[in-house]
Amino acid sequence: MQILLSSIINHNRKYTELGEVATYIPELSKANKNHLGIYVVTLDGEEYGEGDFDVKFTMQSISKVVTLMLALLDNGPEKVFEKIDMEPTADTFNSISSLETRNPQKPLNPMINSGAIAATSLIYGESCDKKIERILKFTRKITGNKEIGINYDVFRSEKETGHRNRALAYYMRSTGVLTGDVEDILDAYFMQCSIEVTCKDIARIAAMLANNGILPWSGERIIPAQYARIVKTIMVTCGMYDESGEFAVKVGIPGKSGVGGGIMAAVPNRMGIGVFGPALNKKGNSVAGLKVLEELSRELDLSIF
Ligand code: DON
Repeated sequence: MQILLSSIINHNRKYTELGEVATYIPELSKANKNHLGIYVVTLDGEEYGEGDFDVKFTMQSISKVVTLMLALLDNGPEKVFEKIDMEPTADTFNSISSLETRNPQKPLNPMINSGAIAATSLIYGESCDKKIERILKFTRKITGNKEIGINYDVFRSEKETGHRNRALAYYMRSTGVLTGDVEDILDAYFMQCSIEVTCKDIARIAAMLANNGILPWSGERIIPAQYARIVKTIMVTCGMYDESGEFAVKVGIPGKSGVGGGIMAAVPNRMGIGVFGPALNKKGNSVAGLKVLEELSRELDLSIF
């Protein structure tokens, strides 16, 4: 495995040149676009890291998986999907249009920004501080990494420039999808996106999902198997946004990307994978990260289809 991962990282690093780091959140533009790393956690207890697997990056949209799990634990699936749909979209991750044109006017799914902001609002905790404290505690528990925290430079950068998310949130406040203080909900959303991790941390979250909600290294159940199934299904249909179809064909693993350059992939009953490469394609997904997962899936026959 180590040799395979090393060769996959080495010959896919050239693809980092084909993408650009995210600049719409100014702080993210400081990332090194040539970074590329992978970490694999198998369900039988093996762990392997290659390339820039220990470089820290912010979770960004990968946090949407964590907050969906917490929203499900707090409210149950019925209440969550009363507010947020579970349908894929061919629109961009920060699209506004479907919020107005659909009936009922609920966000399409919890992996796009509108649906994720709604999911964060459902997490118990009367203020941003309370919600984020619970999100961090939950993330530390799943990853087994007590050091996990927030990159406040990224948080401030996103808060200052996140006008599109603000538009989505105020629109949802007007239709009743959100209740309460919109700025406070947005702060919690911006903070969850700014949680700093490495490939190892996201591989561990994925391993728990791959293991149907149980931490493979301790046997502790984090979420019911039914919630793990719901989350993995939504990752397949919506996790890579308007590139989810191509990802399903070429990689075939429940996955979730973030504009920090991470991709988390959960191979049911086999392994969790964390990939990092901050050079993104036009759809906001890691260019070289996609290539790495495509090759690994082919080599190890990981597609679920
Ligand atoms: O809300 C945003 O725009 C970012 N914090 C997260 C977006 C994101 O990661 C989209 N992913 N590919």
